[in-house]
Amino acid sequence: MKLPSGRVIASAPGKIILAGEHFVVHGSYAVAAAIDRRVRVSISKTPGHESEIVSNKHRSLVFSDDNRFSAVKSVLRSAIDQYGKPRWNFKVEIHSEIPPNSGLGSSAATSVATSAAIASFLGKNLSTDDVLKLAAQGERSVHGNPSGIDTEASLLGGIFLFSKKSGAKPIPINRALQFLVVFSGKARSTLDLISKVNQTRERFPASFDNLLQTASFLSLEVADAVSDGDLPYLGSLMNLAQLSLSWIGVSTGDLDELIEMILVGDVFGAKITGAGGGGSVIALPKPEKAESLLQQILARYKSSFITSIPQEGLRWEN
Ligand code: MEV
Repeated sequence: MKLPSGRVIASAPGKIILAGEHFVVHGSYAVAAAIDRRVRVSISKTPGHESEIVSNKHRSLVFSDDNRFSAVKSVLRSAIDQYGKPRWNFKVEIHSEIPPNSGLGSSAATSVATSAAIASFLGKNLSTDDVLKLAAQGERSVHGNPSGIDTEASLLGGIFLFSKKSGAKPIPINRALQFLVVFSGKARSTLDLISKVNQTRERFPASFDNLLQTASFLSLEVADAVSDGDLPYLGSLMNLAQLSLSWIGVSTGDLDELIEMILVGDVFGAKITGAGGGGSVIALPKPEKAESLLQQILARYKSSFITSIPQEGLRWEN
């Protein structure tokens, strides 16, 4: 096995979902895009006695079973099971620009960047499919049964239509799109929200199945609106997507108020993004009003930002 020449560094972006979250777990189409907030994972040999993982807040040993870095450990251990234990100990350093549990795909970005970095550190040149499979192990360890849309966004970048059956289909885009992203400040667990949606489905199976089809129609229309650059139509579709998400129980009073506050500004539409229950809201502002809206929202929601779509997926860093 080739000895890695020093440090291996990979980075992957977080994501927003424009339509179809939750329903995509049950088979519908959804639309996701990578954002300009990334997770950077560096792996290097260490003279220490044990391999370790560090971030700016936490430290843990790769083979210890505390509850830290569960997804990262699961990726590292699967890679070692598949490709063999390295003869040297290593240090994994994680630097994230994405708040954890904010609905912006921090765990998927971490899993994807870790998968690419550890494979390369172990001397393997993985195909994108293999990176996805390895990253999926990490995601399953924290989210139960994810659809795979978050890891696709972190790996591929850009903006794409996705379903579990047909995978990701990139959406051609002529002009960059600007989205306002507002983290509500309330972290939440994707696993809990997915199980809440399962309960809604058990209670109202016919209504849910109808909305499942609606989610697919909305996602297909969103894909067309994105490639046509039709912002008013895209905003309306986002508002409709938000109604469905409310109905399945993943919006909250606080998120509804946040959306109300954003809609007062000059936006075409707004919705929660990702699992909901807290997490983040996205809005499509009128391009000339984006900056002033951001300044207004920042007064209350400090980690808000504007992201431009499309963005690059997984990449190597120096
Ligand atoms: C989470 O970002 C998106 C969900 O649809 C879960 C998934 O698709 O795995 C809520």
